[in-house]
Amino acid sequence: MPAPDFESRPTTDTPTVYATENGWYYPNHPYGSQLAGPDGPLLLQDNHLVENLAHFDRERIPERVVHAKGGGAHGYFELTDSLSDLTYAKPYQNVGYKTPLTIRFSGVRGELGSPDTQRDPRGFSIKFHTEWGAHDWVFNNTPVFFIREPNKFEHFIHTQKRDPATNLDQNTDSTAAWDYWIQNPESIHQVTWLFGERGTPKDWGAMHGYSGHTYKFVNDQDEITYVQIHVLADRGFQTNSDEEAAELNGSSPDDHQKRMVEQIKNGDYPSWTCYVQTMTPEQAEEFRYSINDLTKVWPHKDFPLRKFGRIVLNKNVTNYFEEIEQIAFSPSRTFIPGIEPSNDPVLQSRIFSYPDTQRHRLGANYQQLPINRGKPFEKGSGCPYMAGNFQRAGPQATVSQGSKPNYIALGDRVKTLNSQGEAADSYYGVISKETEIDSLKKQKAIAKIQEHEKIVWGKQYYYQLQGLSELDLEQPRALYHKVFSDKDRAKFVKNIAGVAGNISNPTVRKQVPQYWGLVDKELGARVAKELDVDYEYLSPENYANGIGNSAVLASQH
Ligand code: HEM
Ligand SMILES: *[C@@H]1O[C@H](CO)[C@@H](O)[C@H](O)[C@H]1NC(C)=O
Ligand SMILES: *[C@@H]1O[C@H](CO)[C@@H](O)[C@H](O)[C@H]1NC(C)=O
Ligand SMILES: *[C@@H]1O[C@H](CO)[C@@H](O)[C@H](O)[C@H]1NC(C)=O
Repeated sequence: MPAPDFESRPTTDTPTVYATENGWYYPNHPYGSQLAGPDGPLLLQDNHLVENLAHFDRERIPERVVHAKGGGAHGYFELTDSLSDLTYAKPYQNVGYKTPLTIRFSGVRGELGSPDTQRDPRGFSIKFHTEWGAHDWVFNNTPVFFIREPNKFEHFIHTQKRDPATNLDQNTDSTAAWDYWIQNPESIHQVTWLFGERGTPKDWGAMHGYSGHTYKFVNDQDEITYVQIHVLADRGFQTNSDEEAAELNGSSPDDHQKRMVEQIKNGDYPSWTCYVQTMTPEQAEEFRYSINDLTKVWPHKDFPLRKFGRIVLNKNVTNYFEEIEQIAFSPSRTFIPGIEPSNDPVLQSRIFSYPDTQRHRLGANYQQLPINRGKPFEKGSGCPYMAGNFQRAGPQATVSQGSKPNYIALGDRVKTLNSQGEAADSYYGVISKETEIDSLKKQKAIAKIQEHEKIVWGKQYYYQLQGLSELDLEQPRALYHKVFSDKDRAKFVKNIAGVAGNISNPTVRKQVPQYWGLVDKELGARVAKELDVDYEYLSPENYANGIGNSAVLASQH
């Protein structure tokens, strides 16, 4: 099961024939151009010059709409403990199973040229290049997120980007970011992480990755287990102080990129241990929070971490554009047989959004790019079978599946994989007939699932359209009171004031301490003092009523 073969690409040491775009050798120096006379003008017939200019004019592709600034490397995943009791997904069966992978780390808000050290959550995306196809994990370095309703994503992200009128971003004027958070206080758990030390990681190789969302594992008995994945850095989560980060984003704006390339070059390979947290459907019904609420974590003491794998990054990329800029991760590609999405509406909408933006950013056939292409599509890749489907043609198609019929033709043969991954021939034409007993059994099973989902959804519904409940404040409070030390709390207040200090709108500035008062009355007072504004503490209920537009304090269920 070979990794994408980027090693065989040319380097400075590879002599190449200098050629025009059609591959024909060009006999003159690349710098020259054709002139009508000794002093010009240029000739349109100078195809060499015209093609070079035209290609250059098209060198840029759209940057990612979020997570634009990032970098990555190659390595491998190894299964250390089987998860076969939880899922029949192939990579998680046999201890010792190893597959090449590519990881991309990124900031969320920054543009392609922004410093990679700035305060922000970090993306942590993993693509397994397995012999069965590509399998993605699209994680962040925090276990929760700012939203739990997908329609808020564009609003929130817009406040992280440039102001449409002034063209300033939050480094100069942070009004919009705070205005959004204040009006949408379910953000407060993630914002507490953000202004803690973990908002400024030291190193991509020394931070954790979290699924955040709940996923469903399905085993070969058709039993469902809810899971969250944790990818914990063997080096621990190392952070910069706010001052260090601020210094670095001026003096070394690609610091994380630089450190990763150097570490891998020096054989100091970053590595992680993979864990799964599990919850049965019964536990999910009893759980204090909704399992579909992305602003909540599952307490480790109730849902302990179970180790299953190891990740090592041991290979730098050879071409950033081919291997990182063009890589396309999607939560929709997490779902291989044996893994299913939960009903988390944010996860559900991500399933649409990533392939959609990738068709725009990279083109309709982005899956045929070497870094994205599922290995089975390649002849002679060492895969147990060759993949085929009916997706054909389109712009820049390089793999159009030869002379295979582009519809289900009479006698078209298909291979089906058995549980050992061995392929057997059969025909598309054979449709299995369901007996009455089978169909009755299926209906019963569906009814049971629907009953369960109603109970779980009841908890979710309770959050919908209602911005805040006491339940939302428990976890950020625990983070602030129990996880942070006195020193952390002092830095936290300074970090908040550092960014909130750049709010130009005085009303929004005055609301910042009230937002933090939701976590702790005293914290609100400390922030007010640091920002030099008056502080009127608001109870969560008064706060929610005060914001009006979306936040209503719901009574506890
Ligand atoms: C409704 C919610 C969300 C939407 C609509 C959304 C949408 C997007 C889009 C359009 C991209 C650019 C993808 C590309 O150009 O290839 C992206 C990147 C990314 N998102 Fe999200 N996102 C959402 C929430 C989240 C959450 C909750 C997480 C983490 C748990 C996350 C993690 C990432 C990561 C890691 C990337 C970078 C992927 C890469 O390295 O190429 N996103 N997101
Ligand atoms: C942001 O506010 C701080 C004071 O809180 C100030 O020192 C800094 O110059 C401001 N930054 C910008 C870019 O205006
Ligand atoms: C630099 O780092 C500081 C500290 O993390 C951050 O608050 C600020 O937004 C960053 N500035 C820029 C220009 O990225
Ligand atoms: C990255 O690490 C590899 C080893 O995987 C090394 O051969 C290469 O020189 C490094 N790349 C750079 C740009 O330093």
